[in-house]
This record gives sequence, C-alpha cells and structure tokens, in this order.
Amino acid sequence: MFNNEGERKPMAFLELIHVKKAFGALSVVEDFSVHIEKGEFISFLGPSGCGKTTVLRMIAGFETPTAGTLTIAGKDQRPLKPNQRNIGMVFQAYALFPNMTVHDNVAFGLKVAGMAKPEIDKRVKEMLALIKLDQLASRFPYQMSGGQQQRVALARAIAVKPQVLLLDEPLSALDAKIRVSLREEIRAIQQQLGITTVFVTHDQEEALSISDRIVVMNAGRADQIGTPFEIYNTPATRFVASFVGTLNLIEGRVVDPDANRIMIGDRDITLKHSVTAFKPGDKVTLALRPEAGSLTESAKGDTALTGEITSVHFLGSVIRTRMNVDGNTISFDMFNNPHHMPPTVGERVTLRFKAADLLLLPQ
Ligand SMILES: Nc1ncnc2c1ncn2[C@@H]1O[C@H](COP(=O)(O)OP(=O)(O)OP(=O)(O)O)[C@@H](O)[C@H]1O
Ligand SMILES: [Mg+2]
Repeated sequence: MFNNEGERKPMAFLELIHVKKAFGALSVVEDFSVHIEKGEFISFLGPSGCGKTTVLRMIAGFETPTAGTLTIAGKDQRPLKPNQRNIGMVFQAYALFPNMTVHDNVAFGLKVAGMAKPEIDKRVKEMLALIKLDQLASRFPYQMSGGQQQRVALARAIAVKPQVLLLDEPLSALDAKIRVSLREEIRAIQQQLGITTVFVTHDQEEALSISDRIVVMNAGRADQIGTPFEIYNTPATRFVASFVGTLNLIEGRVVDPDANRIMIGDRDITLKHSVTAFKPGDKVTLALRPEAGSLTESAKGDTALTGEITSVHFLGSVIRTRMNVDGNTISFDMFNNPHHMPPTVGERVTLRFKAADLLLLPQ
C-alpha cells in the first residue's frame, strides 16, 4: 500500500484487499477493501442483503473469497480452515450449546485447545466476572434471558483470546433498552482487552455510538469508511447520506457557478461548497440534517426558507416537524420547551440555518 506521499504504509492488523465473493453467477461482495488497526472497533453498517455477513464469514473462514487477499498480522488467512484461524465469533441468534451449563459453554474452546482443567476453571471465572455473570455458572441457557445468553456467547468467544472478534448483529434479538446497555458493555470489554473487533449492524445509531470507524456498505461495496463524525457530517455518497441519519434532500438549481449561487424555490442562496463544475440551470441535490434548522428569529443562521408546516411529531425531548418548501419536504427537529408551544400544521414558518450546513451531494 502506498499513501499520497508515495511512502510505504505499514500494514494494518486485519486487511481485506480487493476482496470479491460470488455465489455462482450472483456477485455479492465487489472489490471490498478495508484496513483495520490492532485494537480497533470497526462496524460494518448497511441494509439487509448488502453482504455484511458474507464478509464476516470470509474473515472467519466459512466462505472463500472469489478474489482478493485477506491477512491478519501479515499472515495470509486464505489457506487456513476456520479452526486454524484465531477468531472469536458471536452470532445474531443465540448459539449457545443448550445442553451445557454457562461454565461449560465458556470452557468449550479452551477444552478443544487442550488447556488443563485448573487453568480452564480460572479463565472461565475471569470471563464470567468480566460479563458480570459469576453467579450463574451452573445455569443452562434456557434458564437465562436473551441478554444474559448473548453475554455468555461473548465470554465464550473471547475466552480463547482470539486475534479478532467478529460480532454479527449480536444485539438484534434483544429489546431496545437491553440493546443499549449491552452495546456499551461490549464496547467497554473490547477496550479493556484491546481486542480488534468487527461489529455488524444495520442500526445506524448503534454503529455511530460505539465504533472507532464505520464501513458503510451498499450492495457489496464499501461506500465510505470513516469515523462516526466523518460518516455523519460529511457523507461521501447520496446512499451514505440517506442511510446514516434522517436527511432532507432538497433540489436546487445553479444560478451563478463562479459565485456558488443556487436557487431553492425562489430563494437565492450562496453555498459554502464550490459549484464551479456546474453550468447555470443545472440541477443539484443538497442535503440538510434535521437538527441544523431552527425557527427562532434570533437564530444565527444566514439562510432562510419559508414554507408551511405539514406535520408535528412530539417525541418527548425532541419535536420532529415537517414543512413543505416549494415541493421539497424538509424535516427538522427542535428541543422541547415547556414554555413555548410547537408550531401547528398549516402554519407558515421560516426555517433558518447556516449555508455551511447544506451539503452538496455527488450528483
Ligand atoms: N451461500 C449462499 N448462496 C447464495 N447466495 C447467498 C449465500 N449467502 C448469502 N447469499 C446472498 O448474498 C447476499 C448478501 O447476504 P449477506 O448474508 O451477506 O447479507 P447481510 O448484509 O448480512 O444481510 P442481513 O442484514 O439481512 O443479515 C444476499 O443476497 C444473500 O441472499
Ligand atoms: Mg447478515
């Protein structure tokens, strides 16, 4: 790998380079490359069927790439069978051995590895303390909640001290509250152990909240790889912009490309982005985050759009409102203020925001 300066870049810990996977004529993963650092927590985020599990299964050795390379710590993994790779995996569905106690489930990989019993018992104890289930060592899976079972599955996966931990939507079968507390627990354990982790999810909030970096996947490709801040604030493609967060897409028309001036409806707006590549009259698509706008007169925003409120949803701390501006539906959020009534449907309002908050999406 060479960076922009042409120097040789040190190899990342887990590398997938130009990886492809086809099942017969069906191409599922296309030219997928990612460089994951040691100790990093990276999420694969994308809609159902985009190839997340397939990439994970290739890292684990359950599928063979049709093309491309796959290395861990510089070692080519492709010739290795799953049991020859040093990888821990947790699946979406609870995959504990139903006829074994918690202790025996966690001990399973250690036994297979030929560890002596006193050492196994010591390690299992450590693992159960880590997931705060030391009291439940003799329970069977059917005697535990879904959240507890997934914590045992996590303990089983990390007991063997894998080089890489793969988590395939481990929280999706749990209810919302447990999901949030368990994802924080997973992140804390991952940081404590410094274990390189790939976490698969189609929940954008989950990915944004716990990842060092996110790979946004779209139809077998990595559309963008970046920190949660980068992915949310500077989406590289229209797909990323609309998949990550709730985004308003607004059609505009270029008026004066050299001055970065466009029209939205009858409003003349000077963008912070360059539109010099466009001709006068060209259509452009702009994106605006729902939290970027405000109805207050005193708002610092230098750009204003006027329209009619079409819906108001009271969500508690936040009120999500929609308005119609020349055929564009714009959704925006305001914080609840018990001393100030939210707008009502049909009201004409002016939404203010900073021109810099208008993202110009690749056309
Ligand atoms: N063994 C297989 N044979 C044929 N097609 C497969 C096979 N495994 C997966 N696919 C197809 O590959 C595509 C990607 O599947 P994959 O399971 O990787 O998606 P995913 O992103 O994990 O989706 P989800 O979020 O629903 O779990 C799907 O269209 C799926 O039907
Ligand atoms: Mg999947």
